[in-house]
Amino acid sequence: MPATLVNRVASTLKPNNHPYMNGAWTPTYEEYDATGLEVIGEIPTDIDGVYVRNTENPVHDPIGLYHPFDGDGMIHVMAFRDGKAEYRNRFVRTKGFQAEQEAGGALWAGVAEHPSQSKRPGWGAHGGIKDSSSTDVVVHAGKILSTFYQCGEGYRLDPYTLEQFGTESWTPIDGISAHPKVDEATGELLFFNYSKHAPYMHYGVVGPDNRLKHYIPIPLPGPRLPHDMAFTRNYSIFADLPLFWDPELLPKGYHAARFYKELPTRFAIVPRYGQVEDIRWFEAQPCYVLHWMNAYEEGDEIVLDGYIQEDPQPPPLEGYGAKLGQMMAYLDEHSMKPRLHRWRFNLKTGAVSESHLDDRVLEFGSFNQKIAGEKGRYLYSTTSKPRWFLFTGVVKHDLESGRSWSLDFGPERYGSEAPFAPRIGARDEDDGYLVSFITDLAADRSECILVDAKDIEAGPVCRIMLPHRISSGTHTAWAAGADLRR
Ligand SMILES: [Fe+2]
Repeated sequence: MPATLVNRVASTLKPNNHPYMNGAWTPTYEEYDATGLEVIGEIPTDIDGVYVRNTENPVHDPIGLYHPFDGDGMIHVMAFRDGKAEYRNRFVRTKGFQAEQEAGGALWAGVAEHPSQSKRPGWGAHGGIKDSSSTDVVVHAGKILSTFYQCGEGYRLDPYTLEQFGTESWTPIDGISAHPKVDEATGELLFFNYSKHAPYMHYGVVGPDNRLKHYIPIPLPGPRLPHDMAFTRNYSIFADLPLFWDPELLPKGYHAARFYKELPTRFAIVPRYGQVEDIRWFEAQPCYVLHWMNAYEEGDEIVLDGYIQEDPQPPPLEGYGAKLGQMMAYLDEHSMKPRLHRWRFNLKTGAVSESHLDDRVLEFGSFNQKIAGEKGRYLYSTTSKPRWFLFTGVVKHDLESGRSWSLDFGPERYGSEAPFAPRIGARDEDDGYLVSFITDLAADRSECILVDAKDIEAGPVCRIMLPHRISSGTHTAWAAGADLRR
């Protein structure tokens, strides 16, 4: 069956030279259902489940400067079973997306602008912006949950058909941040939010039945900009990072993120169903971390891995002017220099120790979610193109032997976060595939690749051609077919 063009969304975006609206970030307006796609190699029969990716895909001419994190959420899925693959993509029909479709243009300014530029009241910790639901995606209780990093309502979709179910009913007043975590062992969803009013952060647990079971404050000294959380089998971990909106400018509506290198990083460790009085605080060196990896308990210690930034407030990239150059620097991993890092928190003594696990610039990693919260052996990180928010390849770490392996996607080929998909009947932690969408600028098309996680240097075991070239995108999830059919 050829690809079916289901819908073409009306866009008012005019030709422009914005670095994140062109090239690999050129937005897409077609919504497709496609099976029988051209395959280079063979789709393995031992992969069963859905690869889901969120994408920031702008529809209208922006009000002021466009930031790529403002783009409207578009979900792309590739479903695998019995050696076949099926592709679909849809915009998330957020309230903001629908209002702008009706208005025929942008109604909300983005994070790079003053919220007073927006034409209607908006959403988010930042305030006055559109909840684009375009940052992150997980699959929980059988459905996709798309989220927005400035805290939004959370939207639900079917992982196979992309049927839309609107906003999540249990969303608290301060919303859900990006990076809620699914504990596959229990089926629970752990989430947090942050805001500009006390207590500035909350943490919640939703059961496998999709009911909110627990919701507590994580009191912070002021508005903060956390992006991610972590969990072990028994504890949830949050960070009070010394990078936040300048408190002098905030009352005037200016959201200028600054790194306060004289302040420590504070970690909150709380039992999964603990109360505010159960929170244990630990101090570590000042830093900013966008994404954590796995965490686990070992003796009296909690071990946490993540990507520590060497320069959380980099100077503007040259050649773009001050405002755009600053934005470009905050999107450039080679400016912020995140490195794989490990923290150890001793619950008995309160001591904290930390050190690098690797000296390369790496971020946007994944690992086998079956071992999430327990001690694991393998991590998969992405490499990026200097000066650009574009992923160029994957590095696999064996944390036991200290060895690592690399795969480069090839010239002008940019990938997504590459989650680990366990092989049917897998016995080893790395027995499975890494899955990524690739935007190939030279070939002017996009594809989905599967890489054998045991041998990433061998390159893709198969390449499935998409019916259209899609924009570069970031966060992804893997949901096993057996779990979805349960
Ligand atoms: Fe993120």
